[in-house]
Amino acid sequence: MTNLSDILNVEAFEGLAQSRLDRVAVDYFRSGSWGEHTVAENLAAWQRLWLRPRCLVNVSQRDPSVSLFGDRMPSPLLIAPTALHKMAHPEGEVATAKAAGACGVPMVLSSLSTCTVEEVAKVATSPLWMQLYISQDRGFTRSLAQRVEAAGCKAIMVTVDAPVWGVRERDIHNGFRVPDGLHIANLERPGLPTGHSGSGIGATLGWTIDASLTWKDFEMVCSAVKLPVLVKGILRGDDAIKAMDHGAQGVVVSNHGGRQLDGSIATASALPDVVQSVSGRVPVLVDGGIRRGADMLRAVALGARAVLVGRPVLWGLATAGQPGVERVLQLLLEEFSLSMALAGCPDIRSITSDLIARA
Ligand code: FNR
Ligand code: LAC
Repeated sequence: MTNLSDILNVEAFEGLAQSRLDRVAVDYFRSGSWGEHTVAENLAAWQRLWLRPRCLVNVSQRDPSVSLFGDRMPSPLLIAPTALHKMAHPEGEVATAKAAGACGVPMVLSSLSTCTVEEVAKVATSPLWMQLYISQDRGFTRSLAQRVEAAGCKAIMVTVDAPVWGVRERDIHNGFRVPDGLHIANLERPGLPTGHSGSGIGATLGWTIDASLTWKDFEMVCSAVKLPVLVKGILRGDDAIKAMDHGAQGVVVSNHGGRQLDGSIATASALPDVVQSVSGRVPVLVDGGIRRGADMLRAVALGARAVLVGRPVLWGLATAGQPGVERVLQLLLEEFSLSMALAGCPDIRSITSDLIARA
C-alpha cells in the first residue's frame, strides 16, 4: 500500500483506484457518454484559461473561506453527488461523509447513494446537502425531499440534465447493473420497480428519472421544503434565469461530468455566460474536470462561488476509503491556498476575472 502522503496530486489517485477495482466499476465511474468528447473537453477547457498572477501583494495571511446559505466553509470546494459509493468501498457514502467532515468540506449526497440519507447525516460533521432526481412518482420525490429536510440536510440540488440517461457505451459493453447486495438505499420502498434487467445505467436505473419533467416539477420540489433548492445541470444563461424565476436559490453549471449529452460545452466555457445572466442574484457553482487547486482559482475568477469535484473523490474512496478521500480533499485545499498565494490573492474577493488572460 502506497503511503497516502506520497501521493502528490489528485490525478495519481485515478491509477491507484483503477488497480483496486474491477473493470465494471472502473468503467462506470470514469465513463462519459458516446464518444466521451465532453469528458475530455471538461479537463482541457480549464487548462486553456491562462492565468495572470499579481506580484508583490502580501499573501502571508490568506483567507480561502466562503459562505453558502449561512454556512462558512474552509474553501470554495464541495463534494459532487455521485452514485453507488459502496461500489468503490464497502463503507460507501458513510466513509466519504466522515472524510468530508474531517476536512470541513460540504458533501452533496446522491439520491442514488448506497447508504441512506439518515445513515450519512448521523456521521456528517460538515454541511450535508442532498441531490435529487425527480422521479416518475412525484409524490415519492416530494416526500423524499421532506425526508431529506428532516434528516438535517442544509440544501437540495435538483439535477435537470437527465430527462433520459446518456449512453455510456462502456457500461453497455460490460453489462453494467447495480451489483448484487448493493441497494439504492433512499429509493427503496414496496412496489417500486428495481429494473434489474438489461445493461447500462438506462436499463438499471431508468425508473428514477422522467423525460416529461418541466420547470413546474422543479417548482414542486421548491415548495415542498424550506431548504434552499439549487438547480444542477445548467449550461446556458437563459436557463439560469428560468431556474431563478422558478425558485432556484443557486445554479450549478454542470454537464454531469460529460455523462449526458456528449458534445455539450465544457463547464469552464459555459460558466461566464451563466454568471453574467445570474448577475449576482444567487450563487453560481460549477463542476466538471476540476482536478487542481489552480482550476478552483480559475472557476472563482470566472465568478463561481464554489466548485464541486466528482470522480476524484471516488478514486480516493476506492484507493483507501475515508483516509483516501481526506487526502484528495487536502490536496485540493492546499493547492487552492497555494494558488491564491502565487496569484497574489489574499482572499476570495481578490480572485477577479482579470486574473484570466483574454484569448
Ligand atoms: C455522477 N454525477 C451525478 N450527478 C448527479 O446529480 N447525481 C448522481 O447520482 C450522479 N452520479 C454520478 C456518478 C458518477 C460515477 C459520476 C462520475 C458522476 C455527476 C457529478 O455530480 C458531477 O457533475 C461530475 O462528476 C463532475 O465532474 P468530475 O468532477 O467527475 O469531472
Ligand atoms: C450517473 C447517474 C447516476 O451519472 O447520475 O451515473
